[in-house]
Amino acid sequence: VAEEMLRTRFRRDHCIFAGRATTTIYLALRALGHTTGTVVVPGIVCPNPASAVVFAGLDPLFCDVRVSDYTLDPDRLGDMLEGPSVVTAVIAVHLYGHPAMMKTIGALAREKGVPVIEDAAQAMGGTYRGKALGELGDISILGFGSNKIPGLAGGGALLTDDAALAREVRALAARLPEQPADAAEMQQAYRKLYYAVRDLQDLGVETSPLFRQFPAAFKRMYLYRADDAMAKAVVDGLDRLDDDVAERRAKARIYREQLDSPSLRHPEVNFDEAAFWRYSLLFDGDAHALAERVRGSGVDASNWYPNIAPWYSKGGKLENADYVERHVLNLWTDKSKSLEDVRADCVRIRRCIEG
Ligand SMILES: Cc1ncc(COP(=O)(O)O)c(C=O)c1O
Repeated sequence: VAEEMLRTRFRRDHCIFAGRATTTIYLALRALGHTTGTVVVPGIVCPNPASAVVFAGLDPLFCDVRVSDYTLDPDRLGDMLEGPSVVTAVIAVHLYGHPAMMKTIGALAREKGVPVIEDAAQAMGGTYRGKALGELGDISILGFGSNKIPGLAGGGALLTDDAALAREVRALAARLPEQPADAAEMQQAYRKLYYAVRDLQDLGVETSPLFRQFPAAFKRMYLYRADDAMAKAVVDGLDRLDDDVAERRAKARIYREQLDSPSLRHPEVNFDEAAFWRYSLLFDGDAHALAERVRGSGVDASNWYPNIAPWYSKGGKLENADYVERHVLNLWTDKSKSLEDVRADCVRIRRCIEG
């Protein structure tokens, strides 16, 4: 039932529901059938899509992002598709809920016969030029974890109009194990290890070889099938999606209007289209120090995501991704805050900026 609901809502021919979004990216890559080659991934991204590439036996090849909205830069993608690497797929990510430039990306990839995997795990409920995010890739990926939009019980969905590919994905998905009983403990171990390695990095240690070990060490936490509770949560909760996104947009508008410092650069996105998983903007000073000050004032804030290209040392230096890593600040748009909370937070954040 969950698959049928999603298929209908996102106007796709086929939907396969699995344990999490990472699992579905892995299934997509396996079903595409390449056993060697690279997959283009934006440098600024949640590390999980790159891990999915590794699980599928392929190499992530990192592409720079746009400083305007932090999504895959089609100009750089064009250069990569002309380059020597055998690119087997492009993962375009609507990071933070900001729509990636799907039309241009799709045209570039199509010209080379390379499929586009649209990762809408942070962007459900968003749109792009009149179409739903999730409707725009040869293969599209959705995520239903508790930290996604609208915040459900887990699971991921793969959408496609390609019948043969869908059959292959379904066959592969049927062979996945169940979610491991110790998934929560593993997630905690991941968190601890991640921050320990970040601490080492802050001490000047070269940590890429350590980060590169993460996918193998945590593999079983990422590849598993969905269970009935996940599917039921989608069936019961999907109708909350549009209201949730509308509320997030209202909060994003408050941040944009109330945080009007010249040291802040707001994302250049269409506020009627983006889904605003977080409200993410650039601070022209040290955004990590600012986030600490903001947290010290009682307002939660983060600096996701790092440029993960150096972890794998594939692709050249990514200047924009490095810039976004240093300057991005994420603010909360979810149910933990009312519109009034967001207005009050803006006053505190402004004080932190002004020192
Ligand atoms: C953009 C993006 N893609 C994929 C994933 C993987 O989602 P999941 O946690 O459901 O595996 C995440 C989050 O972890 C994400 O933020």
